[in-house]
Order: sequence, then C-alpha cells, then structure tokens
Amino acid sequence: MASKTKLFKNVIINSLIFVYLSIVGFSLFNYRSHCVFTSPSTLLRLPHLDKSDNGKCRVDLDKLELIKVDIFTAPEFDFILEKNHHVKKGGVSKPVGCSALQKVAIIVPYRDRLHHLKILLNRLHAMLVKQLIEYRIFVIEQSGLDKFNRGKLMNIGYLEALKFGDFDCFVFHDADLLPENDQNLYMCDQHARHLSSAIDEMRYHVMYYNYAGGVIAINRENYQRINGYSNFYWGWGNEDDDLSARIQETGLLITRPPESIGRFKMVRHAKLSRAEHGNELFFGWRGRWPEDGLNDIVGMNYTVLHFSDEPLFTNITVNIGSRPKTMPNHDSTQESLFWFLKFYYP
Ligand SMILES: *[C@@H]1O[C@H](CO)[C@@H](O)[C@H](O)[C@H]1NC(C)=O
Ligand SMILES: *[C@@H]1O[C@H](CO)[C@@H](O)[C@H](O)[C@H]1NC(C)=O
Repeated sequence: MASKTKLFKNVIINSLIFVYLSIVGFSLFNYRSHCVFTSPSTLLRLPHLDKSDNGKCRVDLDKLELIKVDIFTAPEFDFILEKNHHVKKGGVSKPVGCSALQKVAIIVPYRDRLHHLKILLNRLHAMLVKQLIEYRIFVIEQSGLDKFNRGKLMNIGYLEALKFGDFDCFVFHDADLLPENDQNLYMCDQHARHLSSAIDEMRYHVMYYNYAGGVIAINRENYQRINGYSNFYWGWGNEDDDLSARIQETGLLITRPPESIGRFKMVRHAKLSRAEHGNELFFGWRGRWPEDGLNDIVGMNYTVLHFSDEPLFTNITVNIGSRPKTMPNHDSTQESLFWFLKFYYP
C-alpha cells in the first residue's frame, strides 16, 4: 500500500516537472524567436551609420544614468523652457558641434492630459539633449468626443511629421510614460525597438513577450513596410498588439533595452474606456492588415484643424472622423485559439 502511494507521488512529481520544463522550454523558444534584448550601445554602431563617420555625434553612455523622476508635480511651460534653452519653437532641438546620428520625430497621441504633457515634456527635453539627438516633438491631438483612436493618431503623426523634415526614426510615445534612464537612447535600429521594456505599473517587466505598447521606435522604411498601425481600434487596447503582429509577420524582431535601462514610470490617471470588440478585431487582424493602415484612404481620412509651433512642442489638432457604425467582418481570416494563446504567452 505504502509503495503504491509512493509510486503515485513520483508519477505526479515527475509529470509536474515535465510540464514545468515544457512550459519553460516553450517560453524560451517562443520568446527568442521574436524578441531580443540589445544594449543601447548597438544603436551607436549600426552599420549604415558608419559610412559617414566624420563629425557625427558620439554619446558617451557611461556618462548617462538613472534619474529620479517626479511623476507628481507638473512644472509650468515657462519653467521647462527656462531649464531647456536648447529647445527651439515647435519643440525642436539638435546637438551643437556635431551632427546627430538620426533625426527623430517623437509622436505623442493626445487628448486632454495637460498635466501629463507638462511632466513628459520636462523630462524628454532634458533627456534628449544629453543623448545628442536631433528631434522634434509632435503632439497629435484628437478633437471631438469619440473614443480615442491611438493607432490612427500615430499614423497621422507619422505623415504630418514628414511634412516637417526628413526624419529617419519615429518614436511613438504615450503621454503618460516617463523614461527613467538617460541611457535609453531614443533611436531606431533595423527592427522595431520597444523602448518601454520595464514599466513600473508592470513591476518593471514586460507583461507578455509580444507587448509593443507604451513607447516604440520604428524607422521610416519599416513603418512603411508594416503599413503603420491599424486605424480600426477606437478606445483603449489591442491596437498595440495588432502592431506587434504586423512587426513579426514582416519578419522584424522586437528589440528591447535591458530592463534596467528600459525603465519607465507611469503617471496615474483614470483608465480610458476599452475598445469595443478589441479582441475580436485583433482575432481578424491578418485579413485587414493589407488595406488597414497608412495606405487606407478611407480609414486615414482626417483634417488638420489647427497647427502651431508652441515653445516646447508642435501642436497638430486633427478631426479624425468618427467610429464606423459596423464592425469589419473578416471571419475567414480569424486566428486560431492556439495562435492567440501563444501571442499572449507571458
Ligand atoms: C472624409 O471625411 C469627410 C468628412 O467626414 C467626408 O466628407 C469625405 O467624403 C471623406 N472622404 C473619404 C475618402 O472617405
Ligand atoms: C492645440 O491647439 C488647439 C487649438 O488651438 C487647442 O485647443 C489645444 O489645447 C492645443 N493643445 C495643447 C496640448 O496645447
């Protein structure tokens, strides 16, 4: 009797070990195939940058460090300007005495978060000057009362930014996230660089390995290739997963700075309302992808209501129309449950 119990126990234990190892093994395999951690120093050594080495800025990463970021006090614009004399009208800056490795457009989708915006601008201008980056900060404001469409605002930001300059790199940036480490270079590599790899709200880890929300840097060529974000997600959630799927299916990796460098603090706020049918939309992402994005004439219909060069940022206020009454139907292209589970695997 006793030995039977013991045998039973062994079988249970061995099975548990087997299941555990399988999960770990699957997770490693799954993760490694799409996502890699790379040091910011790789951004300074990109092959295409090396040709024209003379006069290029080289930032000394060892001199940059983790900063104590205050997420509670929002300084006034005058104060921020006073502390950041390098910033020109429109939220523009470039290094003096050397030429920047990349020209970067920072795209911040926005509505009604002035408090967050002040905290963000204060932090970004102070950090980017140390990184010797040439940049312009675009705040893309959605007018009207319809649900927030983050993806479409990103696409608009991308297109509008190109009217201002020949940007190499686009950093798509939530207004409520503050980079903590100056070493987290706001630059692009040849993949898609998920800069916010460790957010305090997520206990400084990536929530699931395919997570691409928060702050992500994508170069111009790759953004065109993936057809930008989807324009279909009205309300919070899933548009970042859709982007992540586009990145991977294009054969690009998601690269991330190590968690000690990709640290961000989130400014607390009431959650936006979630996208209706967000998950269902995401299930059918593949069918929409070829026509839903930058190249979608109807989906990308918008008008610029207001434009101004503010002292610390470029204000582009847009009417993006309203949410279609009916959901697109792509039943034939739904992903399998396995694909879905694999996608959200932690
Ligand atoms: C874009 O939106 C405007 C205003 O809502 C509308 O009149 C126009 O027909 C739309 N254009 C396209 C291509 O959908
Ligand atoms: C941008 O400009 C619009 C129109 O003048 C204004 O209503 C809005 O408050 C401005 N946005 C910011 C962030 O200042």
